[in-house]
Amino acid sequence: MALRKIRSIGDSCLGKKCREVDKFDSRLHTLIDDMRETLLYADGMGLAAPQVGILKRVVVINAGEDNILEFVNPVMTEAVGSVIDAEACLSVPGKIGEVERPQKVKITAFDRYGNEFSCEGEDLMARCMCHELDHLDGILYTAKVIRYIEREEDEQ
Ligand code: NI
Repeated sequence: MALRKIRSIGDSCLGKKCREVDKFDSRLHTLIDDMRETLLYADGMGLAAPQVGILKRVVVINAGEDNILEFVNPVMTEAVGSVIDAEACLSVPGKIGEVERPQKVKITAFDRYGNEFSCEGEDLMARCMCHELDHLDGILYTAKVIRYIEREEDEQ
């Protein structure tokens, strides 16, 4: 496994629509393993492949306690409710913004071996799923932000 460089806002990779994965091979597994390691190292909640410069529909989400969920070609099949809350992005360093997201979502996706599964997320998990799926279509939360929240500045 290896750490990959996280691209920051302004990088062209973050504005592009990603391609579906069609080969569930060792190359994909290496990408996912590297994304897991990069996510843990960066101490983020979610990471999408375009954030490490790979324009493929792959997302990893840290569900807590070292349980990292992997989604290949995820599709949202249901979205219910609406919550405005704070979120941040590893590609938008130093900022937190309020965004409106569904309260609950359902997703179908494939695992790294090409097996289809579905899952649900509520509240923070729903927010994270929506945020990461947006990355696959080249959308950053900054395009949807209602307002930015001041973060306590460190002494410079
Ligand atoms: Ni993000």
